[in-house]
Amino acid sequence: MTADKRGLFFGDMKTINSIRSMQRKARELCRRHTIALVPTMGYLHEGHLSLVKKARKAADVVVATIFVNPTQFGPGEDFQRYPRDQKGDRALLRDAGADYLFMPDAQQMYPDDYQSYVETEQLSQTLEGAFRPGHFRGVTTVVSKLFNAVRPDVAVFGQKDFQQAVVLKRLVKDLDYPIKLIIAPTRREQDGLAMSSRNAYLGPGQRREAVCLYRGLRRARTLFAEGVTSAARLKKAVRKEILEVCPTAEIQYISFNDFHTLQPRIKVDRDTVCSVAAMVYDVRLIDNMRLG
Ligand code: PAJ
Repeated sequence: MTADKRGLFFGDMKTINSIRSMQRKARELCRRHTIALVPTMGYLHEGHLSLVKKARKAADVVVATIFVNPTQFGPGEDFQRYPRDQKGDRALLRDAGADYLFMPDAQQMYPDDYQSYVETEQLSQTLEGAFRPGHFRGVTTVVSKLFNAVRPDVAVFGQKDFQQAVVLKRLVKDLDYPIKLIIAPTRREQDGLAMSSRNAYLGPGQRREAVCLYRGLRRARTLFAEGVTSAARLKKAVRKEILEVCPTAEIQYISFNDFHTLQPRIKVDRDTVCSVAAMVYDVRLIDNMRLG
């Protein structure tokens, strides 16, 4: 074990399970170091690890968290069966350069008499929020709790969850958290499928068709590059492409919104993001792409 130039020890990632211990450690660390936070729900893939690598460059100490947050899952969603792999995750985080893994349990985060929630009002109602009522209330609540436990200077999130990133930027602004958010690009499989812990639910044949979302988004980008700016026309083309690749896909939405404000767009521009959500063989997949 060797100390690096920050006076920290490399390669000995510590796991912290209690909120109190995390807060104590954070108080100690922040006196001399900057802290970057990478919140996750585990079952890690290259997408998550790319956030850890970004965090490494952005601050002295990296704290990754794993917590499958019950309050962001609706009734009938996949909370119970959400994939988990503590041992594998720990090894991946250590290799990616995390210094601490904070992994509280549900009883600590939400004791039986728990009753305080954080809500970002309008931004959480559309797109994902319309199909998953209460989802973002759970996300903003847990992320606030993680901010309070870790007191980071920087927090890294993925563009994969585009609306989540917009909502969290708003949370930080509205509640005056002194935290810089970094939004990292979406990591994809070779064929373009956005990496996601939920891809593990797909069987091999289903996996091949799951690329339909990416293909739809690419179609929108190509048409925009060719001069099409009508959201209605683009939407039709995206739908056609998705169903050509996966005829049984149940599309929940195809939407064009401003990258910064989430305002819906009738005429698209370079700052427009196309987002899609679809059920592919009972697996709910989301993806998005900026057009410009
Ligand atoms: P989770 O789905 O585990 O994702 C953790 C972080 O990884 C999020 O910021 C997400 O946007 C990012 N991410 C997921 N797939 C990615 C990909 N293919 N490329 C780049 N980044 C990717 O998002 C959550 O957990 C939760 O809502 C959480 C923020 C942890 C709150 O519970």
